[in-house]
Amino acid sequence: MGRLIFVAIVMVMVIGEFASIGSSEVPVLVGSSPNKEEGDKSAMVQEEDIDGGFSSFDGMLQWAIGHSDPGVLKERSEVVQRMSPEELKNRQTELKELMEKLKMPSDAQLMLIAVKDLDNLSLPLDHHRRALEELLVLVEHIDNAIDLHKLGGFSVLIGKLNHSEAEIRTAAAWVLGKASQNNPIVQKQVLELGALTVLMKMMKSHITEEAVKALFAISALIRNNLNGQNLFYQEAGDTMLQEVLSNPNLDIRLHKKSLFLIADLAECLLENENTAEVSFFSNQLLMKAMVDSMSSSDLDLQEKALHAIKNILLLKSTEVQLFKDFCKLKEALERTRQHLQQFMVDDDLREYATDVESLRKEVELTFLQKLDKVTEAAI
Ligand SMILES: *[C@@H]1O[C@H](CO)[C@@H](O)[C@H](O)[C@H]1NC(C)=O
Ligand SMILES: *[C@@H]1O[C@H](CO)[C@@H](O)[C@H](O)[C@H]1NC(C)=O
Repeated sequence: MGRLIFVAIVMVMVIGEFASIGSSEVPVLVGSSPNKEEGDKSAMVQEEDIDGGFSSFDGMLQWAIGHSDPGVLKERSEVVQRMSPEELKNRQTELKELMEKLKMPSDAQLMLIAVKDLDNLSLPLDHHRRALEELLVLVEHIDNAIDLHKLGGFSVLIGKLNHSEAEIRTAAAWVLGKASQNNPIVQKQVLELGALTVLMKMMKSHITEEAVKALFAISALIRNNLNGQNLFYQEAGDTMLQEVLSNPNLDIRLHKKSLFLIADLAECLLENENTAEVSFFSNQLLMKAMVDSMSSSDLDLQEKALHAIKNILLLKSTEVQLFKDFCKLKEALERTRQHLQQFMVDDDLREYATDVESLRKEVELTFLQKLDKVTEAAI
């Protein structure tokens, strides 16, 4: 988005300059004398773009903001509005040529620089950190995320999951997750490079932020991706999530993300009835850890636990007896009901607690119906 804003500002400025003085001299843009109060800022930024390009995104943005005066922008946008379509088109062509002359780096070039920096071991840590920050912004665009593969970016990023500094490992996981989100092409590429196994190992980290970002990346990689999910099951994803949920000392975000992922996996299985049944959902300790999560005092966590349990109960293969005898779901649901009643006394929480209560009732109903069917079958 930063880039778009920048381009928009430059367009308005450049078109305005052309329209008012009718000249296509490049210096108009590059060397235009800054307003007095902005002089210092501009001078500072100018050092960065001495060769006509920008070393970073931030540099470009600062430059753009430093060069825009709201009054002037308004005036110039009025000029633009008066232009005919042909005129505007000509201006756009001129602008494009101008931007090429100015050597404005494209996103692909910015990514290439970031990847090269990240891969250059003789550069100080600061450069690596900076490169990761830039990539994090750049991969938000789906096309950039796909291009990153061509630049060899994903191998470099996956290599960084192994870095000696937790901060770098964490940031690399974050970028990988962002790039993979809702992007089947990137998911495939990143999975093929073996990232899932490394990310799952990262979950054992004692550093909360590292584990949080690793779990974020794992979820992004396997969401709606059957190959990724199968790999996750093979790599004992059930044990991994069970260990998270059974550990009350872990950050609550990890608990929430785990429950969310489980609900998502069950939903995916519901939608793809043909896929082989997975032992994931018959892991007794995992199921029990989920049911136990319902006793949390955090409404959001309760809701996520209920949602996950509901989806699992809807699976044909689910052993309802396991939920009854081993997980004590009936008792847990009753405790949750009482708990929610207490929340409803609080004006601020009443509405939310009421929503969670209706989800709880749904879970109860699904559970009882499933039990009934089993009992009938037994008779
Ligand atoms: C790595 O960075 C150093 C220091 O800036 C530079 O001299 C060197 O050329 C870079 N190496 C590569 C392969 O880009
Ligand atoms: C992680 O580091 C070890 C040695 O430090 C190396 O053997 C391994 O290949 C690395 N893994 C990745 C994914 O880079």
